[in-house]
Amino acid sequence: MKTLMEIEIKNMISRAIDARGRAYAPYSNFPVGACLKGQTGAYYLGCNIENAAFTPGICAERTALSKAVSEGEKTFEALAVVTDRDALATPCGVCRQALVEFCKPDMPVICASKKGEYKVYSLGELLPHSFGPGDL
Ligand code: THU
Repeated sequence: MKTLMEIEIKNMISRAIDARGRAYAPYSNFPVGACLKGQTGAYYLGCNIENAAFTPGICAERTALSKAVSEGEKTFEALAVVTDRDALATPCGVCRQALVEFCKPDMPVICASKKGEYKVYSLGELLPHSFGPGDL
């Protein structure tokens, strides 16, 4: 996995916490924030945005990814995801698949809890044997 400096991990968690504050999660009461760092050094923030019809809801990670790609950034260095629970949460399966489209298996995914604890996984650990753009 690509190494990340502790100071950068903390910086990305802090940005993800800011994004979490903008989550719209009245149905699950499970606000999530994400910070995706592009190769250009730009940070793309995302929060989950739920919907009364449920299905149109989007996770924080895909909000951040959509913002980045729509701004022209397609290569990424790292992702941080923060919930407001004591336990760590990892990206859902749909988000893992969405990330695999653009991110390498060695990209670090920082999963942080409300308590400030975190664990860093590689994307390849989270979605091994994935089906990606190279498989078509
Ligand atoms: N959610 C995320 O935003 N990211 C995750 O990694 C897990 C789940 C959102 C989706 C939904 O709005 C709420 O959390 C509960 O599942």
